[in-house]
Amino acid sequence: MTDSKGRVLVTRRVPEAVAERARREFDAVLAKEDLDAAGAVRAAEETGAEALFIGPKSRLDAAAITALPASVKIIANSSVGYDHMDAAAAKARGIIVTNTPDVLTDCTADLAFMLLLNASRRAYEYEAIMRQGWRQGFGMPDMLGIRPSGKTLGIVGMGRIGQAVARRARGFGMKVLYQNRRRLPVELEEGAEFVPTIEELLPRSQLLSLHLPAERGAPPLMDAKAFALLPKGAVFVNTARGSVVDEEALLAALKSGHLFAAGLDVFQKEPDFDTRFAELPNVFLTPHVASATVETRDAMGFRALDNIAAVLAGKPAPDPV
Ligand code: DGY
Repeated sequence: MTDSKGRVLVTRRVPEAVAERARREFDAVLAKEDLDAAGAVRAAEETGAEALFIGPKSRLDAAAITALPASVKIIANSSVGYDHMDAAAAKARGIIVTNTPDVLTDCTADLAFMLLLNASRRAYEYEAIMRQGWRQGFGMPDMLGIRPSGKTLGIVGMGRIGQAVARRARGFGMKVLYQNRRRLPVELEEGAEFVPTIEELLPRSQLLSLHLPAERGAPPLMDAKAFALLPKGAVFVNTARGSVVDEEALLAALKSGHLFAAGLDVFQKEPDFDTRFAELPNVFLTPHVASATVETRDAMGFRALDNIAAVLAGKPAPDPV
């Protein structure tokens, strides 16, 4: 009876509004905890799932994809990034893979800006001083940050999120440079300057924010050579993926003072990130939460369900990857 609704396995905990819609529209099985790849495969077999709604903990590599039951028609990532799974292996099996673009653009850009401002203006150190009771005033030259407004911001990856960061930067009077696989049409550039190579972009970027997708197995874009190309005193922000950064090189650049500060939301290893970052006063840290607002998490969940609904109804997925 319920089978006509389509059997959906949700392998991660989701907001209540998303769970409610999943139960209403589908024959849905909702995991009580975020499942890893083995748990997701096991649950897919047990439920005979036609659709998997997954999160980053379900790291479906090629072996896990091979082990999925033949019933699975779609793997809907409830995220824009899908580097946690082997999309090529899934597609080779005829499984449709989707993600959730657009809906988290503004929240990610907001968080990138939050990191940029907090890192530049030493928010972590000021906060800590206040929580310890302050009591000792600062002299004029003490505890100075750097002014982000009016500076030159380099953006690597000028997709939707990069463009949203550029819009915010204009409000702060920043000059925006960007590097991207292709130059954008002029109307989308809105005054930002295209710089064809990363080697040309870095020396001109007083502030740098990454917004490129991670490629599975690719070497980190930001290695020691790349950090050395940034001007001394630059501020570095990463809300993209930890894998695009050589963390040893970043730690060295922060410790030497070559970088004034960094704002980091993503790490090579999550949640077991390298805690040496937490020992440095010139780093502002958040635990991979760029999309973590009520509005955006609901929208991401709904978008994943929209993709599932389309595919199970025999229609093209709105967001194939
Ligand atoms: C995404 O959607 O890729 C964000 O990083 C949240 O996982």
